[in-house]
Amino acid sequence: MFVGDDDETPGPLSPRAVERAATVVSQLERMRPDAFAHARRVAALAVRVARRAHFPEERVEQVYWGALLHDIGELNVQVALFHHDARLDERDRIAICQHTTVGARWLSAVPGLAPLVPFARWHHERFDGLGYPDGITAQEVPLAVSLVGVCDAWDALTQPRPYRDPLTTDEAAEEMMRHSGRQWSGPLVIWTIECALLPSDVTDDCDDAA
Ligand SMILES: [Fe+2]
Repeated sequence: MFVGDDDETPGPLSPRAVERAATVVSQLERMRPDAFAHARRVAALAVRVARRAHFPEERVEQVYWGALLHDIGELNVQVALFHHDARLDERDRIAICQHTTVGARWLSAVPGLAPLVPFARWHHERFDGLGYPDGITAQEVPLAVSLVGVCDAWDALTQPRPYRDPLTTDEAAEEMMRHSGRQWSGPLVIWTIECALLPSDVTDDCDDAA
């Protein structure tokens, strides 16, 4: 059933919309190179997982751009908060969480990018409905968006943070399997781990989807 051609996010993107998405991505690259690097890694992995899930190519393209822009709302958050090495207070935590709603609002304002809005808004929702900003479950979040959310989590675990070293791929896989079925969809976790562990010369096909 995971073929990505059911009632998913609206699409496909028009050529003009792709141009506009690329313009927004270039703003991210210029203003937050670290966030851009994360987005590129997530997009590369998400494209592989989408193909593993037999998404049609137009849906793969949507996943690619959705992954590149999922954190665009971070441009609204003070950079220092992302490099914080202590516990965030409630106000800072709220500011970080708002990157989802702010990003969705920004993308809604760009003609033709409506299909990408759910990626910005819902990539931190959880399988069990305990995520944010809307607390909706896997049944309500498009599969393509959940897929990007899982790839986002993989990248977060395997990259260094100010308060911890990066997890090894074995540790990250173990962590994600531990939370599959609650935080993330079980099949998406398995496919993401499989695709993340493919050799890099086979997997570096991010730009193929553009
Ligand atoms: Fe995010």
